[in-house]
Amino acid sequence: MPQYDTTGAPRDGAWAQNVVPTPVKISLINMLSETGLQVIEATSFVSPKWVPQMADHTEVMQGINKVPGISYPVLTPNLKGFQAAVAAGAKEVSIFGAASELFTKKNINCSIEESLERFSEVMAAARAASIPVRGYVSCVLGCPYEGKISAAKVAEVSKKMYSMGCYEISLGDTIGVGTPGSMKEMLTMVMKEVPVGALAVHCHDTYGQALANILVALQMGVSVVDASVAGLGGCPYAQGASGNVATEDLVYMLNGLGIHTGVDLQKLMDTGTFICNALNRRTNSKVSQASCRL
Ligand code: HMG
Ligand code: MG
Repeated sequence: MPQYDTTGAPRDGAWAQNVVPTPVKISLINMLSETGLQVIEATSFVSPKWVPQMADHTEVMQGINKVPGISYPVLTPNLKGFQAAVAAGAKEVSIFGAASELFTKKNINCSIEESLERFSEVMAAARAASIPVRGYVSCVLGCPYEGKISAAKVAEVSKKMYSMGCYEISLGDTIGVGTPGSMKEMLTMVMKEVPVGALAVHCHDTYGQALANILVALQMGVSVVDASVAGLGGCPYAQGASGNVATEDLVYMLNGLGIHTGVDLQKLMDTGTFICNALNRRTNSKVSQASCRL
């Protein structure tokens, strides 16, 4: 039985809020660390002028309890971010590109080509420091600025980031427009360039398709799935995009499939209640909303 990882996401989850107080972020991560998740993306070392919500990245990294065996990766768009992340104690980082020129420009202020040059500087520094690097490719099933994105373009960018040394490529449906049909078409192309064992999916649930898309990815052999407790999240450069698939709902589905995750669903739901109360918002997890408990 394969081990399925889920990535609880205080990082993606914090976008939709204006400012989440630093102690709340730290408590959220500490609670997620008790649920059995093996990877918790903690924060982003991006420019505070671009994303003020992440300006407390160093305090978050230094304030959390780092449980042995759990990885707390952070986003780093460039060498400056990488150096700051390492100085704050990060042991794993992620670079984030996209299969759309316009999204890349809006999100990280450069072309795809320029982004890959910046990423190779991060890769070189990471290699020297023995820091593993994950690569995101955004807009794999559609772009808020360009609309349809070709599967061939997704495969091309994924291949370049994998060849650069990323140990895993997370394919992001940033605005949640994909369907099982487009997920299958895209994965079929990407799997010609990147081994399936090095692929993850990152599905936002804007159109309510995330679980169906994830199921297709699982059936095609993908075994790493990103998710966000209470379905929090979005992207500051993709207006209207809602959160990632709720981790609670993903774990419920995986449990039903008999797939072992090692994640305690009740603790996860309690964590979702904590963060929703702290932010005074309603959970996006259907499992947590359900009043009929089985
Ligand atoms: P820029 O303005 O082009 O950067 O921003 P620059 O290199 O020209 O530098 C301008 C200023 O920013 C300078 O400071 C730099 O030092 C500073 P000044 O001299 O003016 O005082 N700077 C930084 N400060 C802190 N940390 C840094 C950094 N880099 C430069 N790392 C940049 C380019 C990439 C920095 C900017 O566009 C940025 O921070 N973008 C991040 C946007 C973001 O966080 N987006 C959301 C990420 S989530 C996502 O993309 C999707 C995902 O969830 C998957 C999916 O759903 O598809 C991962
Ligand atoms: Mg995302």
